[in-house]
Amino acid sequence: MPDLKSNKEYTVAITGASGSIYGKRLLQELLKRDFTVSLVISEPAKLVIKHELGFTFDEDNVSIKIADWVGMLDKANRLKYYRDDDLMAPICSGSHITSGMVIIPCSMATVASVANGLSSSLIERSADVALKESRILVIVPRETPLSRIHLTNLLKVQEAGAKVVPAMPAFYNNPKTIEDIVDFVVGKVLDQMGVEHNLYKRWQGR
Ligand SMILES: Cc1cc2nc3c(=O)[nH]c(=O)nc-3n(C[C@H](O)[C@H](O)[C@H](O)COP(=O)(O)O)c2cc1C
Repeated sequence: MPDLKSNKEYTVAITGASGSIYGKRLLQELLKRDFTVSLVISEPAKLVIKHELGFTFDEDNVSIKIADWVGMLDKANRLKYYRDDDLMAPICSGSHITSGMVIIPCSMATVASVANGLSSSLIERSADVALKESRILVIVPRETPLSRIHLTNLLKVQEAGAKVVPAMPAFYNNPKTIEDIVDFVVGKVLDQMGVEHNLYKRWQGR
């Protein structure tokens, strides 16, 4: 039986919700800690990333270009990019061992697909694999306001075993910059993955 505890590989998916900066920041933190990251970016996410962060995708040597973009070029060998239509990727199968998956940010479309087990793209299938293998699946939804359909689907994924960490920053730590706000949300994600960090100051009481 593979040693799941010592496994240091995560799948990270970035979907087409606003807040692609959260995905970029998580990639930095995981690569910095020598995790291997299988990265999948949906086609709508590529449009949002271009709009919000000014990064344009070019599928040639994409892993290296993304590692450079996140400031982790020296860790490029630990970043494996897969297209969302690549259903032959290793992460499509439960026999490929990972510690789990984070979908950050997660659109309501992807929440709906995961909640209903569609598995029709690599992101949806990898999430399905994480749930069926009882691995960590962290979903970072971003939408407001939330409809009954959104709320029902979020409840379904949580009941199926996912950890739902809304992109919902707190202000008790007096953030001064966008980076502070982003770090709070990414810190909350790392908490769910059991990864130590100091991205936000923990509340100590009065
Ligand atoms: C600029 C932009 C921002 C968007 N923001 C959100 C959002 O915050 N939440 C959301 O659920 N969908 C958002 N969408 C819509 C999704 O991109 C769309 O539903 C898409 O089909 C999601 O597909 P995916 O989950 O495969 O990435 C946004 C779209 C654009 C173009």
